[in-house]
Amino acid sequence: MAKETVVVLDFGGQYNQLIARRVRECGVYCEVHPYTTPLEKIRELHPIGIIFTGGPDSVYLEDSPKVDPSIFTWGVPILGICYGCQLMSHTLGGRVTAAQDDSAREYGKTVTYYDTSCKLFEGLPEEGISWMSHGDYMAAIPDGFALVAHSKACPNVAIADEARGFYGVQYHPEVNHTEHGTDMIRNFLYNVCHAKGDWTMGNFCKTTVERLKQEIGGGRVLLALSGGVDSSVLAALMAEAIGDRLTCVFVDHGLMRKNEGDEIEAAFFKWSVNFVRVNAQKRFLDKLAGVDDPETKRRIIGAEFGYVFRDEAERFNITNQDFLAQGTIYPDVIESGKGDADVIKSHHNRLLPPEVVARFKGVLEPLDLLFKDEVRQLGRELGLPEYLVMRQPFPGPGLAIRIIGDITQEKADTLRDADAIFREEIANAGLDRSISQYFAVLTNTRSVGVMGDGRTYEYTLALRGVTTTDFMTAEWARIPYDVLDRISTRIINEVRGINRIVYDITSKPPATIEWE
Ligand code: XMP
Repeated sequence: MAKETVVVLDFGGQYNQLIARRVRECGVYCEVHPYTTPLEKIRELHPIGIIFTGGPDSVYLEDSPKVDPSIFTWGVPILGICYGCQLMSHTLGGRVTAAQDDSAREYGKTVTYYDTSCKLFEGLPEEGISWMSHGDYMAAIPDGFALVAHSKACPNVAIADEARGFYGVQYHPEVNHTEHGTDMIRNFLYNVCHAKGDWTMGNFCKTTVERLKQEIGGGRVLLALSGGVDSSVLAALMAEAIGDRLTCVFVDHGLMRKNEGDEIEAAFFKWSVNFVRVNAQKRFLDKLAGVDDPETKRRIIGAEFGYVFRDEAERFNITNQDFLAQGTIYPDVIESGKGDADVIKSHHNRLLPPEVVARFKGVLEPLDLLFKDEVRQLGRELGLPEYLVMRQPFPGPGLAIRIIGDITQEKADTLRDADAIFREEIANAGLDRSISQYFAVLTNTRSVGVMGDGRTYEYTLALRGVTTTDFMTAEWARIPYDVLDRISTRIINEVRGINRIVYDITSKPPATIEWE
């Protein structure tokens, strides 16, 4: 059965992944493709609707992203958001210009008035806050379109050609700041595209298992297991598809948290999958010696993981007709740079050396379209225990990207001890469920202190805690002062080499969650 699909055509805006999330939250499967994708490829997906995203450009400039006008003749409904709205207007004969005076430019929360007889706004309040972020505006709208929303500053906040199923909004319905934004997207999907809403995790699970069975045939799979949520969920999914033809390889690179290697080993021994632990601590530390650049660390670790998997494949007679599987998820792909997006940081699973990839028949990454909370949902669907599903994420490169500057065994041990105290105290305070991810970072800064009657000159430790659901954006966690105080006192007293502790109070963006 063909999957009911909506295509998000990506023009480089910052909220594009959020649009995909919202569509899936509404029960409709959705894929994001760069605007440069050949249109025949998009057409092969038989989309029931298309969404043009926002983007940083001005549509009237010659070299700004455009779309082949034939897309408007397919008979497929289109929703344009911000730049996408201006692009639709521009392409269909409207006129978009730079806002002449500051009042027509709109940024941030804006009171907006909607025409609720329009299908996009049906059943919603006539007035609400929308989130604007545009310096250009539609001076004239194309023939066949009507104005269906306005604000005090701008008469053309939303346009619609209901006969053709084309809608454009200047604001961002996908962000939480827009009241009823998700309802507007739902209206587009169900009122305009006539979606049935067949995207559920149960469905995804079933179709993915079937697809994997077909793709793998009688072959075997070596699964790169970190013990974190994503690779554990992947292991359960793969086990469902191919049973004991699956071998899970857990690489202990010496940069795990305290006792983590043993805990993962114990958890997976209980579970009846073929589990192999590779103790590669020295191998990784030798390769990382003297390296302080974050991306270089990531590249070294990503490549070394690949070489370990290749060696293990040899050891277990996994042939070039067999597969390698990784628990790559959507944010890994995006942050490692996809299409026009900037490389924020290369996630370890995007860094396999080509000769390692060539060693296998293929690399399987069946979670690569999912967000973290969707992966968790899938884990529940597969019957994984809650403690595994809700584990806080731990990045593949481990403590290597939480030790700023060069990495030594001694620094790793210091950080492990401090991090263990931080985690223990957060759990003691009953906060371990409400903070999405929390960890310690060993900075490369040393400062003067006084302990007993003596001078010290030691490292500063940073504590980081964030709340988030998708890990694409995050708020710093408001840990109570008395808990921070207990943590600080214990770490200073119990861990040698640290004499100062700071708490990171930056959200993402502008910071990222990890420091490197
Ligand atoms: P950032 O630091 O990019 O992190 O805001 C977002 C989430 O991704 C995790 N992370 C990684 N996970 N391999 C992973 O498996 C990596 O290379 C990697 N880098 C960051 C990070 O811990 C956070 O949960």
